[in-house]
Amino acid sequence: MDEFYRETWIEVQLDAISSNVKNMYNHLPNDTDLMVAVKANGYGHGAYETATIALESGATALATALLDEAIYLRKQGITAPILVLGYVPPNYAQIAADYNISLTVFQKEWVDTAKTVLTSSLPVHIKCDTGMGRLGVRTVRELEELLNSVKRNEFFHLEGIFTHFAAADEQNSSYYLQQLRKFQSFLEIVKEKPRWIHASNSAASLRFADGLFDLVRSGISTYGLTPSIDIVSELPFPLQPALSLHTRLTHVKKVAKGAKISYGGTYTAKEDEWIGTIPIGYADGWLRLLQGQSVLIDGIRVPIVGRICMDQCMIKLPQKYPVGSLVTLIGNQGEEHITVNEIAEKLGTINYEVICILSHRLPRVYKKGKKIVQIKNELFR
Ligand SMILES: Cc1ncc(COP(=O)(O)O)c(C=O)c1O
Repeated sequence: MDEFYRETWIEVQLDAISSNVKNMYNHLPNDTDLMVAVKANGYGHGAYETATIALESGATALATALLDEAIYLRKQGITAPILVLGYVPPNYAQIAADYNISLTVFQKEWVDTAKTVLTSSLPVHIKCDTGMGRLGVRTVRELEELLNSVKRNEFFHLEGIFTHFAAADEQNSSYYLQQLRKFQSFLEIVKEKPRWIHASNSAASLRFADGLFDLVRSGISTYGLTPSIDIVSELPFPLQPALSLHTRLTHVKKVAKGAKISYGGTYTAKEDEWIGTIPIGYADGWLRLLQGQSVLIDGIRVPIVGRICMDQCMIKLPQKYPVGSLVTLIGNQGEEHITVNEIAEKLGTINYEVICILSHRLPRVYKKGKKIVQIKNELFR
């Protein structure tokens, strides 16, 4: 177990991830497999740790955005199928093949170049762009050409065909349906069905039965967060947030009425006030826009006052608290709760972004129930 010597840490409740994965698995038909997206360091939760508990809880496969992320998992000993969802330069095709990592293909030119470097079998998934406008073939004709190129080389093994929904998390499902129909029209020309046809992300998997096919790719719901606020009332099972963020008071003082706090002196004490310092700042992913956001101490909400610095910020206390007192930035204290969605709203963004930007400087403490099972400090790796 890694050590850490600072007073700020992320807690990841592995039981929550396990329960989210089990609930998703049980929600799916028997013949639909579950692929868990662990890109971006498992949405900030730790890619290896998430992958391990997800595979134990019903997931069959994993997805990353980058070949590097997939190789990292292989180097940690993960043997389950891994699909890289993003673009990998074709000259790295053999590296993927060596690690038995599946790549996403959508360009005939890519196939032509990859062919020249491949000396062993590479599993590939063809990506269809049905309306996301990001990656993928956009016409049936392009798909046909690509299928033929892939088929012509013995080293390509067509493992999957997929698409990605752009608006499955919106109340109005018309764009979802439009994409689904387009994907179905693409599939009509596929004569030899690969192992996995797949389309649905968390939102689509949770809401729609008609897009499940052979496999779903679930990211955000694995971590216990809703794909969007719009669909909270439609969730078929409760999602359990796995991540919480904590720190401790490092300094406490009474300042006189009129005293200024932090860079630029944007906060002035309205009376004699207790001010606490906490060791988290924008370099940890706790952005300056969070000035004014509440944190929890002693089960109550108190505000961040003054500008957030790179490594620290200040909070206004209702009374003196001892140095070392627990402060929760995301999570529960007593009856009070600060959600990732609350932070996202304050930042004018989505929950996905909040958890992805929590930086590598924050040690991750993994728990099963109350027991700490693993501590990871990226600074020592
Ligand atoms: C291609 C693809 N599939 C699946 C996912 C997982 O999506 P979600 O986290 O909304 O479940 C993503 C995430 O962005 C993605 O890019």
